[in-house]
Amino acid sequence: MPKTDFNDNWLFEGRDQVRLPHNAVELPFSYFDEKVYQRTFTYEKTFDADPGWAGREVSLHFDGAMANAQVSLNGALLTRHKDGYTPFDARLTGLVKTRGNVVKVVIDGSENPEIPPFGGAIDYLTYAGIYREVWIKTAPALSLGLTKIETPDVLAARKTVTIATTLSNPQNLALSGSFRATLRDADGQEIASATAAVTGPSLTLTLTNLPNIILWDTTTPALYTLDLTLDTPQGTDTTTTRFGFRSVAFTTQGFALNGKPLKLRGLNRHQSFPYAGYALGRAAQERDAEILKHELRVNMVRTSHYPQSTHFLNRCDELGLLVFEEFPGWQHIGGATWKQEAVENVRRMVRRDWNHPSIFIWGVRINESQDDHAFYTQTNAAAHALDTTRPTGGVRYITDSELLEDVYTMNDFILGNEEQGGNRPRTPLRPQQEVTGLTHSVPYMITEYGGHMFPTKSYDQEQRQAEHVLRHLEVMNAMYGDPQIAGCVGWCAFDYNTHKDFGSGDRICHHGVMDMFREPKFAAYAYASQSDPSDGVVLKPVTFWARGERNIGGVLPLIILTNCDEVELRYGTHKPKRVKPDRDRFPHLPYAPVIVDRRHFTDNELGLWGMSWEHGEVAGLIKGKPVATARFAADPVATTLQLAPDAAVLGRHEALRVIVRALDQVGNKLPFYFDPVAIKVEGAGHLIGPSLLPLRAGSTGFWVQAQTIGSIKVTVSSDRLGEQTLQLQAE
Ligand code: GAL
Repeated sequence: MPKTDFNDNWLFEGRDQVRLPHNAVELPFSYFDEKVYQRTFTYEKTFDADPGWAGREVSLHFDGAMANAQVSLNGALLTRHKDGYTPFDARLTGLVKTRGNVVKVVIDGSENPEIPPFGGAIDYLTYAGIYREVWIKTAPALSLGLTKIETPDVLAARKTVTIATTLSNPQNLALSGSFRATLRDADGQEIASATAAVTGPSLTLTLTNLPNIILWDTTTPALYTLDLTLDTPQGTDTTTTRFGFRSVAFTTQGFALNGKPLKLRGLNRHQSFPYAGYALGRAAQERDAEILKHELRVNMVRTSHYPQSTHFLNRCDELGLLVFEEFPGWQHIGGATWKQEAVENVRRMVRRDWNHPSIFIWGVRINESQDDHAFYTQTNAAAHALDTTRPTGGVRYITDSELLEDVYTMNDFILGNEEQGGNRPRTPLRPQQEVTGLTHSVPYMITEYGGHMFPTKSYDQEQRQAEHVLRHLEVMNAMYGDPQIAGCVGWCAFDYNTHKDFGSGDRICHHGVMDMFREPKFAAYAYASQSDPSDGVVLKPVTFWARGERNIGGVLPLIILTNCDEVELRYGTHKPKRVKPDRDRFPHLPYAPVIVDRRHFTDNELGLWGMSWEHGEVAGLIKGKPVATARFAADPVATTLQLAPDAAVLGRHEALRVIVRALDQVGNKLPFYFDPVAIKVEGAGHLIGPSLLPLRAGSTGFWVQAQTIGSIKVTVSSDRLGEQTLQLQAE
């Protein structure tokens, strides 16, 4: 079914010509009034009919609009869609004039309590706008509707694919014709095909006995495509759907992918960005998946707390990053209509996303809500009726909660809250049965920890950041050490803007292991260092290397996050010391950190206040050979302004992130450097957000948005560190 871009030339609020995705109100970085977007906004677009539409079904497809969208054409209401996170269509067939049609979309950012997740407080922002793309879809009167592809029994030597498609037949025509499915590998080579006659509104086909299929997993995310062709007297319709062969299973002994046990190590992701809110397109969405996979090196992500961009999910499919997807909600359960809409949201989410191999569990409980037997019986049934291949989870923080899902998914915030556990000693995670209140064990996963229990800013004191690191490590260690826990998902990947009721008063929850620009805090390396060195050596000493930053002074105990076998620490003219990972303290982590303390250096050697402070060097060794080095200057001086763009080329209309860092003479970021930089963007793109930015913890970031094809010049200047330029190409 062909779809064309319908994102250009929308008139916003009768005033501005804008392109979608669009954010109705651009918020500052912090300390704003979030009520400014909590009202209605209008988008209008004038268009002529395309001669090619004659005799065909024509509809507008919205990938997502926040919220309560009402779509009308030439003054007549076409459709309404309450939910802000799922797609919807507006049928135009028979209503389009040859010239001068006006489509009008009114959206409402007011947090209408009739619509999930609204009605209570929520710890994130739901930025108003048509913040995802809009398309024109055309098709013959009889066309291919939703397609579901399943791969039963993937562990058999020869594989099977089942295909179920519904016909779209809005004109209620008599059904006839034929239907063909062609399976192709990633290179487009045909593997198998089959044909069937159209006999009813549902079409099914099975391809069997498929040889040499590669399973999709986290290291080899093999993808296949299925081309469908429908031939009827009304014409030919085709679709292409990507999928993977894989199986997922939760038992009381954890999680298995394709029958092999896999410990899940993940982080939660909100889909928001500074200034742009939800409204960044494909490149930025994909980039987040790449950051999670390659920089944070997790093997799963939870789309807290709503269905996220399909661009993000597509990239997760390509990268082999498992996804826990959940329907919209946060703690609050509304009345009967609200619940009905929530159940419908489960169905919309499952139908939109059931072909993504990356998605391995559906979250069907309003995040952290109270028990509600009837409601959650319905949400579970809705997911199971549509998809028998994936388990459900229900994220709660209450104990003894009724288990209606396949997996007990728990936000365990006990670490740092020992009083709640009856003044027990420091505890990373509670025992499963204490949480569930059940006498038997059940499939179990930890879906949040950290977060508000220990908010940590990238410019916080080193000691606090070291504690932040330890807490993430301790929970992971406990998870790895308990075969009954399938995995743990930390709160959270990236800092995010939020309502006044949460966060640090600045409208930011500083809960990320990265800041809002996706610059790592030290805790990011707690995750990255758990990956195999063949994915990249990690060596991150948790220090700014200063004599007087910590209380009392010195840098001990010094945590070194690494996947090396051993490190060698050199300090001034002292004899180098080799230290191994602390397996006593972290016996279960794949890669325990090295912890250098007074067992290795005396105060005289490394810590004493009043003595001269010296340069330091940490080398990481694997099998006795140095593979990485971290150097520290005892006398850091602001030396270099570094620009790090995510790429040199921007896709059409895409936004590209550029990170700016102030570095010292050995290339380390200056953690307490706050001088401003001025940003200028010239040529085929524009800057998103303000043009004067303070560095925070030695860095900042911005996104450049491509407007047309051509070159873009970015100039970043600082009074102290001079000017740097970048040449980017918008294609
Ligand atoms: C949880 C909640 C998250 C976030 C987090 C902060 O209770 O599910 O959305 O608010 O706390 O730590």
